[in-house]
Amino acid sequence: MKKIIVANWKMYLSTQKAILLAGKLKTVVHTKKVIIAPSYTALSGVGRTIEDSDIELAAQNVSWDGYGAYTGEVCALDLKELKCKYVILGHSERRKHFKETYETVNKRVQFAIKNKLIPIVCVGENLRERRSGHAWRVLKHQLDVALKRVDKHKIMIAYEPIWAIGTGHAEDPADANKIHAHIKSHLKNGTKVLYGGSVNVLNYKKFLQRKNIDGLLVGGASVKLNQIKEIIK
Ligand code: PGA
Repeated sequence: MKKIIVANWKMYLSTQKAILLAGKLKTVVHTKKVIIAPSYTALSGVGRTIEDSDIELAAQNVSWDGYGAYTGEVCALDLKELKCKYVILGHSERRKHFKETYETVNKRVQFAIKNKLIPIVCVGENLRERRSGHAWRVLKHQLDVALKRVDKHKIMIAYEPIWAIGTGHAEDPADANKIHAHIKSHLKNGTKVLYGGSVNVLNYKKFLQRKNIDGLLVGGASVKLNQIKEIIK
């Protein structure tokens, strides 16, 4: 089974830069399944750039409803039209800065699936929760709320400990592997689980060697050509 690399470009790049980077990545011979998640405005251009390659497209969020009075939201049907196959949901930055909750994430997950998008649902504990030894209890709760009435065959999970995102302090690969095993046995359906949080060119192999780590969600390192090129090889 090919390992999966999701490049989460967050709001790092202008549309023009995103298209340029996608064009360069397309020429890299890669052994992994590669998914690019640019910002909304770059979806169309990046999609066109990669359409003759096997790189796939993801959005960074989606609304929980169809066309209507939702200022600032984006509809799943538009994402489908732009050939998006995946959508990242419940990212900790959405929860922290934009007050999303797992209840609303659940609505987004359900609507995404109804429209044949594959949600990549993010879960992760914060440092306090980790230090107090309650990480699994927190993760289990997040999974149960986000995935209520959801077919676990139709999603992927990204385990992203909040304290590891953008900090340069990645989770220990052996510990991440254990948590992934817990998540997999809790969900029971062979759901793929990616790791995210300070993955870079120096540590990615240590994660990908682990049995329960099906792939990586890469943020900062995914907009650096020399790093992402190496990671997807
Ligand atoms: P990072 O971000 O790789 O920059 O830590 C990962 C993510 O937020 O998806």
